[in-house]
Amino acid sequence: MKTISLELQDALRFLDESAIETLIPKVKAAHAELEAGTCPGNDFLGWLHLPSSITPEFLADLQATAQTLREHCDTIVVAGIGGSYLGARAVIDALSNSFAWLTNKGENPNILFAGNNISEDYLFELTEYLKTRRFGVINISKSGTTTETALAFRLLKKQCEDQRGKAEAQKVIVAITDAVRGAARITADKEGYKSYIIPDNVGGRFSVLTPVGLLPIACAGFDIAELVRGAQDMEKASAENDFESNLAEQYAAVRNALYAQGKKIEILANYHPKLHFMSEWWKQLYGESEGKDGVGIFPAAVDLTTDLHSMGQWIQEGERSIFETVVSIEKPEHTVLFPHDEENLDGLNFLEGKRVDEVNKMAELGTRLAHVDGGVPNLRVVLPELTAYYLGQLIYFFEIACGISGRVLNINPFDQPGVEAYKKNMFALLEKPGYEAESAAIKQRLG
Ligand code: PA5
Repeated sequence: MKTISLELQDALRFLDESAIETLIPKVKAAHAELEAGTCPGNDFLGWLHLPSSITPEFLADLQATAQTLREHCDTIVVAGIGGSYLGARAVIDALSNSFAWLTNKGENPNILFAGNNISEDYLFELTEYLKTRRFGVINISKSGTTTETALAFRLLKKQCEDQRGKAEAQKVIVAITDAVRGAARITADKEGYKSYIIPDNVGGRFSVLTPVGLLPIACAGFDIAELVRGAQDMEKASAENDFESNLAEQYAAVRNALYAQGKKIEILANYHPKLHFMSEWWKQLYGESEGKDGVGIFPAAVDLTTDLHSMGQWIQEGERSIFETVVSIEKPEHTVLFPHDEENLDGLNFLEGKRVDEVNKMAELGTRLAHVDGGVPNLRVVLPELTAYYLGQLIYFFEIACGISGRVLNINPFDQPGVEAYKKNMFALLEKPGYEAESAAIKQRLG
């Protein structure tokens, strides 16, 4: 089995040998705690052995639902926010042709995302666009009460029913939500929508390998069995006891050792625009899991070489509180050669005939050397190719490393109490019934 690999030498050079040695027992204990289910937040460990629990029958059912949606829709809107959309978007973007949108001849539905903001203009433009589309909706909300998603679903449900009639709309609206609780479940049961359950013990940001991620990805035409197979293989590899061959334990150890030395910010960097949303998914996974109790590595992300022309200066010479993890793709899918130009005004004819990927790889290597020289430790995660299988490995690798890393930081990686603060204020400002005391307090505060 080919696997993703992890290169650490350009991070280890910033650390004393003892820094990692000291952390190994903590990493091992953290991993053991996850396996034994004895850590804080242990009622949210359903993701840990999720890949190996997925059956071919379950995948076939998801594929059948996806097929129904694909047959009846030219556009599918995925309504969800945070963990209820980022994983699907990350995988779909990573595997899609960058111009699928513009070149789509109808072989796959366009997948759009909504319910992840409260922008009136976004919703207006979306609903205008959908007026001429045969669209379906996947409504994803574990709680079933998230304002952003509920608002989008209200609009989309009505529009879908108005355009298709209630009976037809019922065939193209799917709910992915809690087994019993919340508005999304009640509506799904009342309207007779096909529905899937988000297991109680899987938090949103760890849910990409549940129907939350798998159904939209299957609707987009990608191979969810391969994605799951990659995750299953990484689940097996992560059970490896030997620290030297356990990539997730190594990643958790090195990032915590760097954090202990004042490297408070981790920048996830990619050299392929298709990975932009993979970084967004990773940011949520690590940010929401680790940022609490006054600690946590701040997860940031850059798309390179693009952002070398915007953030490159800061990374090279700004405060030395950062380290960088590069997600690199060994082999691109296509071949483009650097072209000849008769006039050679840009002086680049010396590159003529080279693969563009070779230039990209030299940009990556040159950047790594420069950043290391500038005091930025560099870790490198390498995917042999950008396929569903290796994305499955990458997803599980980051999930298990996140669980371990969070426990090394001594926090509960599986809750997100801080997310409630803005909701409380928003509801108080909007005078939601039940928020009278908060409304009065906030009015006084704002004068
Ligand atoms: O990771 C999480 O738990 C969150 O990001 C949630 O996924 C997000 O807030 C959406 O919640 P819900 O699925 O309940 O609408």
